[in-house]
Amino acid sequence: MGISYKELGLVNTREMFKKAMEGKYAIPAYNFNNLEQLQAIIQACVETRSPVILQVSKGARQYANATMLRYMAMGAVEYAKELGYEIPIALHLDHGDSFELCKACVDNGFSSVMIDGSHLPFEENIEITRKVVEYAHQFDVTVEGELGVLAGIEEDVKAEKSHYTNPDEVEEFVERTGVDSLAISIGTSHGAYKFKVKPGEQVPPLRFDILEEIERRLPGFPIVLHGASSVIPEYVELINKYGGNLEGAVGVPEDQLRKAATSAVCKINIDSDGRLAFTAKVREFLWNNPKEFDPRKYLKPAREELVKMYKHKNINVLGSANKA
Ligand code: G3H
Ligand code: 13P
Ligand code: ZN
Repeated sequence: MGISYKELGLVNTREMFKKAMEGKYAIPAYNFNNLEQLQAIIQACVETRSPVILQVSKGARQYANATMLRYMAMGAVEYAKELGYEIPIALHLDHGDSFELCKACVDNGFSSVMIDGSHLPFEENIEITRKVVEYAHQFDVTVEGELGVLAGIEEDVKAEKSHYTNPDEVEEFVERTGVDSLAISIGTSHGAYKFKVKPGEQVPPLRFDILEEIERRLPGFPIVLHGASSVIPEYVELINKYGGNLEGAVGVPEDQLRKAATSAVCKINIDSDGRLAFTAKVREFLWNNPKEFDPRKYLKPAREELVKMYKHKNINVLGSANKA
């Protein structure tokens, strides 16, 4: 017998997306792997009164251990209450790459899963996605599918070049799979090197024309944007100043994400910005305090910076503040 997310106090994404669509904002989907990231996400979302999707990749699950994760998610729900305000919290598998992994997550307390068949031929993508939906829906777990390929690294899948989502395929995919939301490719990519630009040059705008065409084909259907970190220059500069080397790291400008959040995009995935903020503050602290070796000392400022960064995203980029 598996453990239902309902027993952990979590919710699926259905209601979240319905409200986000009506209210023209996007739900933050923040990745976490460890305690400090999770604490920061919860604190920021409680303080801004924002619903949140806690996102775990296959690699994160291997790193943190599936059982630990389940209890961490349960702890997160209780922690939010303790901080004084109950917010809707979903636990989501990011980039699930097999039916077995998705099933294991459904059986172990996840309220939502992504099956990423975007690299597969269309029919195979439909087949695996439908299989996951059939299983997950029995337990009221919501499912995200993907059409179109993002450049960069998605787990073990490395794509050199992106392929924009073909709007001609979206209706058939959604109809035949029964997915609850659809991730699309409109010019974002994973990681900290999203665009190759010369100094002073603007990054190419996202393909809002493709997004609009998809919205036209799927009225009122929740769309997901992956690879949505802005690669905040302040953090890249700090990392480079204190011994790192992230030359040429560039992300999606926040005003473009703000615009996307007012559309059918109901979920915006942010991982790299958290990694950068955290690393910047750890590097700065250790550089300035070479004798310090208590992890609490260098993790605390990193965690505080994360809280600040997530609050900024909720308030100024996603528009999810005060929507819980
Ligand atoms: O989309 C990928 C996420 O940023 C997760 O990355 O596989 O290194 O945990 P990860
Ligand atoms: P970033 O690398 O832009 O943060 O994207 C994260 C993501 O899409 C997780 O699925
Ligand atoms: Zn992703």
